[in-house]
Amino acid sequence: TKVIVVNGPNLGRLGVRQPDVYGRQDLETLRTQCSQWGAALGLKVEVRQTDDEAEMVRWMHQAVDEQTPVVMNPAAFTHYSYALADAAHMVGDAGLPLIEVHISNPSARDEFRKRSVISPVATGTITGMGFYGYKLALDAIAHLIG
Ligand code: DQA
Repeated sequence: TKVIVVNGPNLGRLGVRQPDVYGRQDLETLRTQCSQWGAALGLKVEVRQTDDEAEMVRWMHQAVDEQTPVVMNPAAFTHYSYALADAAHMVGDAGLPLIEVHISNPSARDEFRKRSVISPVATGTITGMGFYGYKLALDAIAHLIG
């Protein structure tokens, strides 16, 4: 089974962006780790990143059309993108799992990070576990589709 791992704005800067919060490992490392974690579960994982809300929305439409489960770190879109929330809702409506992941624990940070418009339409949410959260999300997907 193919799974897409989609990452929102500024996550292409992992490793250099607030390493105290997001760690010192970069997106390429996350890519390698997700592929390995997925392979061990029999999942073919494709890791994507975009700073573009429209592209992220299109990826959700594509997931529905191709029946692909989704791991999503919506980054700052988490807190305000109703367009992405509506698109994520469609993934759920299609019977596909969508696991929301945050590297940090947003509820322990700024006030504006305490609300997620994605959580209500996600199958579940994993926060505060660093890159390991993506592994937990892939485990959850393997469990949910297994
Ligand atoms: C994040 C948390 C968001 O609040 C922030 O805007 C990000 C990353 C996380 O992975 O911890 O860009 O989603």
